[in-house]
Amino acid sequence: MAIANYVPGHNPDPGAHAMRGTVEVRCGGGFRQQAISPRKSCLNRAVHGAASLTFHRDRELVPLRDRLLTSMDPTQPPARLILKDEPLDGHRPMKVRVVGAGFSGIYLGIRIPQRLRNVDLRIYEKNEDVGGTWWVNRYPGCACDIPSHSYQYSFNPNPDWSALYAPQKEICTYLQATARKYGVMRFVKLSHMVESCKWDDGAKKWLLSIRRVDTGEAFEDDADVLVLAKGILSDPAWPNIPGLKRFKGEAMHSALWKEDYDFGQKRVGVIGNGSSAIQIVPSLQKIEGTRVLCFARSKTWITNPFGDSTMLRLGLDPTKFGFSPEQRQEFVDNPDKLFELRKAVELDGNTIHAMSFRDSDLQRMAVEMFGTAMKERLAKKPEIAEFLLPSFGIGCRRNTPGPGYLEALVEDNVEFITDPIDKVTETGVVLQSGRDVPLDALVCATGFNASAPPPFPVYGKSGLPLQARFTPYPEAYLSMAVDSFPNMFLMLGPNSAIGSGSLTIMLETEGDYIVKCIRKLQKEDYATMTARPERVADWSAYCDEYFKKTVYTDRCNSWYRSQGGRGERITGLWPGSTLHAVEALRAPRWEDFEWESRDGEGANRLRWLGNGWSVTHTPKDGKEDEFGGDPAWYIEPMFVSIPPEERPEEDPEFKMRPFSH
Ligand SMILES: Cc1cc2nc3c(=O)[nH]c(=O)nc-3n(C[C@H](O)[C@H](O)[C@H](O)COP(=O)(O)OP(=O)(O)OC[C@H]3O[C@@H](n4cnc5c(N)ncnc54)[C@H](O)[C@@H]3O)c2cc1C
Ligand SMILES: NC(=O)c1ccc[n+]([C@@H]2O[C@H](COP(=O)([O-])OP(=O)(O)OC[C@H]3O[C@@H](n4cnc5c(N)ncnc54)[C@H](OP(=O)(O)O)[C@@H]3O)[C@@H](O)[C@H]2O)c1
Repeated sequence: MAIANYVPGHNPDPGAHAMRGTVEVRCGGGFRQQAISPRKSCLNRAVHGAASLTFHRDRELVPLRDRLLTSMDPTQPPARLILKDEPLDGHRPMKVRVVGAGFSGIYLGIRIPQRLRNVDLRIYEKNEDVGGTWWVNRYPGCACDIPSHSYQYSFNPNPDWSALYAPQKEICTYLQATARKYGVMRFVKLSHMVESCKWDDGAKKWLLSIRRVDTGEAFEDDADVLVLAKGILSDPAWPNIPGLKRFKGEAMHSALWKEDYDFGQKRVGVIGNGSSAIQIVPSLQKIEGTRVLCFARSKTWITNPFGDSTMLRLGLDPTKFGFSPEQRQEFVDNPDKLFELRKAVELDGNTIHAMSFRDSDLQRMAVEMFGTAMKERLAKKPEIAEFLLPSFGIGCRRNTPGPGYLEALVEDNVEFITDPIDKVTETGVVLQSGRDVPLDALVCATGFNASAPPPFPVYGKSGLPLQARFTPYPEAYLSMAVDSFPNMFLMLGPNSAIGSGSLTIMLETEGDYIVKCIRKLQKEDYATMTARPERVADWSAYCDEYFKKTVYTDRCNSWYRSQGGRGERITGLWPGSTLHAVEALRAPRWEDFEWESRDGEGANRLRWLGNGWSVTHTPKDGKEDEFGGDPAWYIEPMFVSIPPEERPEEDPEFKMRPFSH
């Protein structure tokens, strides 16, 4: 019995109808089961892509042949297929919640609304503004160490960077401007701290507990998909030195900088010689009357900045980091010039990958070159070179290009102290040698809890805490998905940083992958996707084997390693180059996930094929001449791949990179 006439895309609750009844297409043809509408107007609509559908209660439309084919168990009656009365490329509503609005979260705030429809997106950010790393780290000298013309979004190049390595404030301004330019702030909830995330396997939802940092108000939210874009280097690690809390002078972490503190005429201790300390020390050293005491316990390579060779190739002076007003104007006025610089920077970053292998010529040459350069720069205090020069390969710890660092160390107002700190007192530190070092301020440039799970609880299936899953080390399939944590994705999760090359294209690729996953869940009516545990194990085995030949497994302390930088496993880095990661993530391997249908166990897994319509020719809002897309989209130039005549194999697109499904 017919219960409703229906125009596709114009049903107040099509899902509910589809669950209760079956559908006959009254216009258009092709299927025997479909009745022909007697009305001429309906036929006209069919010509223009519209159709009238009629629902029938309890009518079996599945032919016997199909029933036999779709039946999983031949002894059981087949599950009855009730067609879904929606176009196959429909957009079921989905709630996506992102934790963090740094480089990664902002990217998702652009791509999700651009590429998907019907997504209720919210990005929770605990800080007062977006920018992540570049909002948080405000120590003097903070800047990127990858040329700015690479350390930016590929789709929003800034022609006006003031320097090859732009300062923190400028990068933060760029990120905030990008977020505002692309409407990201519509989705961002600032000063909102996510306190816990819990998977509800009955509801197939993530439950989030959130607290407003400004008002203290706590509330709950839920989501179909959870993305942790909380940053790898966002949880400051204080040193575990006894007595630190007793210090009565000014103590600060590099990522929790006290901007009001006046360092003039002060004795300042700086713990650490990682990238942060290397930028802080030259800045403090220059302050009038300051005495800087550098506490270093580990060896490290100090290399040239990453973009030096690019600058030389382009005829620019690598010692002059700032761009002149004329150069900046030229980049604004001449897009070709800007592109030339961008291209050179990317080429440079991607062609030194061989250096990461222990026995490569490039590694040997670099050791020779940078060893000599370090000794020369430290000639005034050769004992520092003797302490610093490592036996491990360049790159084992994050390369630390430190313009001005070694030069600062040899200045008279700087002391380089290698005796380990025994304890902190109210007035300074005591070294293991017994020496008392009085201090006014103590800067802990001691890094981040990079290999630790998130500092807030995340519970997966059966209440499994991510903290437990990430013990003794974190592991995530292709760095992005964890078994037992359905519909959860990580941006820059474990094994996602890059030893050389662009991290920003890596995070863009990860964002694109997540968008593809959300689209598949949405379009193909899956309730959940979860990384298969055996594939996570395969991934970890791959990582272990890959890293054996690289400098990353040389003996050094580094946040790339598990267990706070001292473990055996490399948990920070992607096992391969940037380009390797981009290709690996280009086309998701869906077979590496477990899938649960929204229609339940044993349901016809092709029910998402819907009612025989595509949104592109489905009338919009019931109008006859407006559609959900372009019904002739496939001849638009942007969709047409034109092969070169006679020799299609000469297509420049596939010479740049191979085809992928
Ligand atoms: C000082 C410094 C310099 C760096 N320089 C470079 C460089 O030159 N080149 C390079 O490639 N990489 C560099 N990095 C790495 C840098 O972290 C990444 O390049 C990039 O900025 C990471 O972006 P993200 O969005 O993934 O993480 P983040 O920028 O860390 O952003 C994460 C966001 O999540 C928010 N968040 C975390 N927990 C919660 C919560 N519970 N609730 C709500 N919000 C939360 C944080 O507040 C933060 O805003 C540097 C890192 C540091 C610390
Ligand atoms: N753009 C840039 O130039 C830039 C700037 C800053 C940071 N970053 C990024 O952020 C990452 C982290 O850099 P970071 O410098 O903040 O941290 P880091 O590289 O992890 O360095 C931390 C330093 O603190 C020392 N340390 C830690 N605990 C200590 C203790 N208890 N006693 C004495 N010393 C202690 C470490 O010594 P050990 O090595 O002996 O453990 C190390 O020298 C970098 O690798 C880079 O990826 C980039």
